[in-house]
Amino acid sequence: MKDVANQPRSVIPRCFFLSLLLPLSFFIFLSLKSTNKPISPATTMDLKIRPVYTSYDNYIHHQLHKTTNPKLRQIWTTRDWDRKIRVFTHFFSDLKHKKLISNSSKALCVGARVGQEVEALKRVGVSDSIGLDLVPYPPLVIRGDFHHQPFDDETFDFEFSNVFDHALYPEKFVGEIQRTLKVDGVCVLHVALYRRSDKYSANDLYSTEPLIELFNVSDFVYSRKVDGFGLDTEVVFRKRKPIIQRS
Ligand SMILES: *[C@@H]1O[C@H](CO)[C@@H](O)[C@H](O)[C@H]1NC(C)=O
Ligand SMILES: *[C@@H]1O[C@H](CO)[C@@H](O)[C@H](O)[C@H]1NC(C)=O
Repeated sequence: MKDVANQPRSVIPRCFFLSLLLPLSFFIFLSLKSTNKPISPATTMDLKIRPVYTSYDNYIHHQLHKTTNPKLRQIWTTRDWDRKIRVFTHFFSDLKHKKLISNSSKALCVGARVGQEVEALKRVGVSDSIGLDLVPYPPLVIRGDFHHQPFDDETFDFEFSNVFDHALYPEKFVGEIQRTLKVDGVCVLHVALYRRSDKYSANDLYSTEPLIELFNVSDFVYSRKVDGFGLDTEVVFRKRKPIIQRS
């Protein structure tokens, strides 16, 4: 500061403006950062949160409305049961052939409702499988919120979900999957890109780009078209080894 005072007069206003400019540009940088990251333009265009929920309670209430509907549960556990297990068995056999799951995998199905996918996993030999949903369905499905999974870090080798569209906070949905997956663990999502899903959906997805961005500690393995109960695309990620910081 003393040096500045000793310098010719004309320098002082310049320094003064510079000193204003620096924090200002930093502030602009921060505000750009907070609006653009981690949600990039591609993500905001191709992943839209439906503006229908006034609060988290309101959202949970709406989701429970479907999950606890006795008529739906009756259909899920009777008419739908064998048909869904057959289709899921086909999907999981394919993942086994691709060496993405094995009999010794510890597996989680996120948003499993009555757990047909859990039953299918067990039938293809993945015996250590469990489902998670707001309403439990013992012994296949335990109670929990996928925005805040009730599991320790690095618990599972494999996670499957076909309810990404029900996530009100997609970054939490994905963040929790990445947290509870072991390193090298695989996540398979079935999503709707080409058709719109039901009125219980909390978001609409139009490409795989937002997923690739949200899975920020995982590698994108592949995506392919499938026919899975109204869901048309299978997207697969594998959790990366953490980067070791050298000091
Ligand atoms: C995996 O489990 C299935 C079904 O129980 C069984 O038929 C198969 O032999 C097992 N595979 C291996 C490699 O153990
Ligand atoms: C990944 O994204 C989450 C939330 O979107 C963020 O909290 C986290 O810091 C990101 N991790 C990396 C390694 O970028």
